[in-house]
Amino acid sequence: MMNVAVFVSGGGSNLQAILDAKQAGKLPEATLSLVVASRTGTKAALRAQAYGIDSVVLRRKDYADQAAYDRALLHVLEPYGIGLVVLAGFLTKLGPDFVCAYEKRIMNIHPSLLPEFGGQGFYGLKPHEAVLAAGRTVTGATVHLVTADYDDGAILCQKEVTVMPSDTAEALQLRVMKEAEHLILPKMVDLFTKGELSSDTPGDQKV
Ligand code: GRF
Repeated sequence: MMNVAVFVSGGGSNLQAILDAKQAGKLPEATLSLVVASRTGTKAALRAQAYGIDSVVLRRKDYADQAAYDRALLHVLEPYGIGLVVLAGFLTKLGPDFVCAYEKRIMNIHPSLLPEFGGQGFYGLKPHEAVLAAGRTVTGATVHLVTADYDDGAILCQKEVTVMPSDTAEALQLRVMKEAEHLILPKMVDLFTKGELSSDTPGDQKV
C-alpha cells in the first residue's frame, strides 16, 4: 500500500473522483492519508472530512517566503510517510525544496492538452477561454509530473475532449472535468501506487 496526499485549493471535484475510485475498489494499492488545502473553508476539505481523511490548511501568505512554506509542507507530510503527492486543483506554487524532496512523486492535473494552454496564469476558466479564442475543435486534460515550473514535467497521460460550436468556457470546463480529468487522474494514481507507472516510461497510458 502507498500513502497518498492530495493537495487542493477549491471545489475538490478531482479529489472527489479519487475518493469515489477508492470507494469503488479501483485504487487497491492507495491509502488516501491526507488532504492539504491552500485556503480555509474549501469544499474540498469538507469532502475529505466526510471520508474521515485528515485534512490541514496551509496558506502561503502565512509564511515569510517560499522556503518557509515548503518547510511547513514537508513537516506536515513527514509523519504520514507519503509516497505520492497529487495536485488536484492546487493553485499555490511549490518551491524547489518541496519538489526535490518528493521528486518524481508529485503529479498534477491540468485542464488542457499541455504544452498548449499551460503555464503561469492558466488556471480556472483561463485555459478554456483560450481554447475557444484560438478556435480549437479539440481540447482535453493532462496528468503530468511536477517540476518547480508551472505545468512542466513529463506528461503521464492525456485525454481529448471535443469542443462543441455552442461551448462557453464554463460548459467546456465542466465537460473537460467530467470526460477527462475525473477519469485520468484516479487512473494515474492507481497505476502509480501499483508501481506500474514508472516516471522513466512516461507517455500515453491507457485509460
Ligand atoms: C481543475 O480544472 C484542474 O484541472 C485544475 O483546477 C481545477 C480544479 O477543480 N488544475 P476541482 O477543485 O478538482 O473541482
